[in-house]
Amino acid sequence: MKERAQAIRRQFDGDLAAAASPAALADLRLRYLGRRAGLLTQILKELREVPDSERGAAGRAVNELKTHIETGLATAEEVALRSTAGESDRPAGIDPTLPGLVWRPGSLHPITQVRHLVEEIFLEMGYTLGAGPEVESDAYNFEALNFPPDHPARDTQDTFFVEGSDLLLRTHTSPVQIHTLETSHPPIKMAAIGRVFRRDSDLTHSPVFHQVEGLVVGPGITFAHLKGTLERFCGRIFERTVGVRLRPSYFPFVEPGAEYDISCLFCGGGGCRPCKGSGFIEMGGAGMVHPAVFEQVNRRLGETRYDSESLSGFAFGLGIERIAMLKHGIDDIRLFYENDLRFLSQFPA
Ligand code: FA5
Repeated sequence: MKERAQAIRRQFDGDLAAAASPAALADLRLRYLGRRAGLLTQILKELREVPDSERGAAGRAVNELKTHIETGLATAEEVALRSTAGESDRPAGIDPTLPGLVWRPGSLHPITQVRHLVEEIFLEMGYTLGAGPEVESDAYNFEALNFPPDHPARDTQDTFFVEGSDLLLRTHTSPVQIHTLETSHPPIKMAAIGRVFRRDSDLTHSPVFHQVEGLVVGPGITFAHLKGTLERFCGRIFERTVGVRLRPSYFPFVEPGAEYDISCLFCGGGGCRPCKGSGFIEMGGAGMVHPAVFEQVNRRLGETRYDSESLSGFAFGLGIERIAMLKHGIDDIRLFYENDLRFLSQFPA
């Protein structure tokens, strides 16, 4: 009887180890502890046939077997119950074996990063930061900047007009010059960065883009100051010494007017593909503030705040996207506005 009890115990241990689900454990309970045909019930019945002299030892062996089976089953059933309760708490369709989500830190948009750098440089150079509205009147965007009505110069900045009004989306940051002249007194050193809008769209032109404007007004301001400022500013932006070249050009609000280039960032001036062999890269427009601009502002103010006999000034403008494209070697402006994380995540800061 003792051997038989040990054989059943070994068999039970094997079956218990293989029972993987609550249903398998229920089967096991029936097979071993079932009232009618359970193995333990059978062995208890067989105990009756054991001779009196051996019955005590046989009874102890069967009792030990009963305790072993009952404890083993109860423990396994509790473990199974706990893990199924956990499973039912989980929302359907979740696979806990999959790797978790990785939360990557965000970063500032590359245009915002350049914008912050430009602001920092101007503050370092002692400029104040100016601003103006994105929806402007024709008076500030064109008229006060000496664009005559119906003058073809207006066509160079294809404009979005607001229907049924004289309002428009500003085509450049130069109207901030007028707001600043109206609200300040000379001497003035102002820089403004902001969004501007034009009917323009190709690889290097976007309908919405950003410009930076610089304005310096005071006694004895010359073209040499303008050139020195551009050299200093562009050198800081591109983190190297750059040469600046000024070419005569026309903007109605400056005289003389110029477009300025910097020595090529890629070849240093020898000529390469990005600079089309010229050794220079175009940056923006600049010039000495036109006396007609001062006169227009004086007229609007009703006082001679800016006497062009004793005061002069320079102004310049350039595109923020252009700076970012040159700094990072990007050849398609649309990448900045497609919100593709594969692109944006390359500019951590
Ligand atoms: C102007 O907008 C003048 N207001 C600049 C100026 C300021 C001249 C002060 C004199 C004195 P322009 O149209 O060239 O100039 O534009 C200046 C820069 O803006 C360009 O060099 C270019 O880098 C950028 N830009 C112009 N159009 C777009 C566009 N559609 N998308 C992206 N960048 C543009």
